Amino acid sequence: MNFIAFSVRDDERPYFEKWAQVNNVKVDLHSEEISEDNLDTIKGYDAVIGLQTGTYPLGLFAKMQEYGVKDLSIRNVGVDNIDLAAASQKGVTVTNVPAYSPNAIAEFAVTQLMQMLRQTRTYRRKFAEQDYRWAPYISKELRSMTVGVVGTGRIGRAFIQIVQGFGAKVVAFDPYRNPELEAAGLYVDSLEELFAKADAISLHMPATDQDKHIIGQEALAQMKDGVYLVNTARGSLIDTKALIAALKSGKVAGAALDTYEAETPIFNHDLRNQALTDETFKELISLDNALVTPHIAFYTETAVKNMVEIALDSAKSVLETGQASTIVNA
Ligand code: NAD
Ligand code: COI
Repeated sequence: MNFIAFSVRDDERPYFEKWAQVNNVKVDLHSEEISEDNLDTIKGYDAVIGLQTGTYPLGLFAKMQEYGVKDLSIRNVGVDNIDLAAASQKGVTVTNVPAYSPNAIAEFAVTQLMQMLRQTRTYRRKFAEQDYRWAPYISKELRSMTVGVVGTGRIGRAFIQIVQGFGAKVVAFDPYRNPELEAAGLYVDSLEELFAKADAISLHMPATDQDKHIIGQEALAQMKDGVYLVNTARGSLIDTKALIAALKSGKVAGAALDTYEAETPIFNHDLRNQALTDETFKELISLDNALVTPHIAFYTETAVKNMVEIALDSAKSVLETGQASTIVNA
């Protein structure tokens, strides 16, 4: 068996190398992403191991079929950037890593919410200016707040456990209800109801074409004045321009964004000494009440180890048995 892995960072290499040795499988590691330019490098391999936030190249699955490469195993959760129907049509099995560490993302979402409440960005700026006064930047406590959770899958549920630990009241919305949360009476019947009740809202749902800009002008208007927003899910869920307006007017008191709808050319790139060209992004990050991070919620030691090992296990299982619990296409 013979795998080719793309977008491999140095911190992943030891996990790849150990797995390859233990499983006696050749895994060739490449630091660049899969793109139209390097599709021919997959020739001669049995599986492609990927990780990227940008769209997988249109021609990938046709090439995989042409070269007899049967499996694409990605090292992350989200499959919104993959044309799964095209993969199935070309006879390619796609797997993801559905739960490498939901806590990694949930802990980060809570961290960012707390930072917004305690206004750490403002205090850091003031501190750098030697302005050590307290007022007027007084905080709220999480236990006095109602937190709305949109999407109660693996990460949403981990997030709920943590904020409940702080004493927050939780309201949740998910078209597919979790029985335990249902029994605990956490669900509301609609997003509108959640927006009306929540002092802070955290998004933990997947991105689909139907849910693009689900948080736009109309949704923002339905939220409480001074609401806090956290998005560690996908950038496309939020209409960034509408959010910027709401952050400027104070309708939204703060937004912590680990994902941004046009993040692919920006996040996880070294843009030091380069002028940013995305005007919307520039405006967003200039705001004191926007806490933007470059898609790092997943980035913990536990998560990275699991991402590599589970993706490789999945590819091996698909090739050996045609089965894996992580298959995401029909
Ligand atoms: P999951 O599949 O376990 O849970 C998603 C939940 O969202 C499901 O319960 C589903 O029923 C629900 N859902 C679907 N459509 C919905 C809608 N319209 N409204 C409300 N709920 C809806 O997924 P997960 O592992 O919890 O991942 C959640 C999100 O986090 C995904 O978007 C994923 O891509 C993202 N993610 C981000 C990072 C990061 O580093 N920032 C890392 C991993 C995952
Ligand atoms: C995911 O696992 O879906 C993420 O968002 C992590 C990222 C490295 C792609």
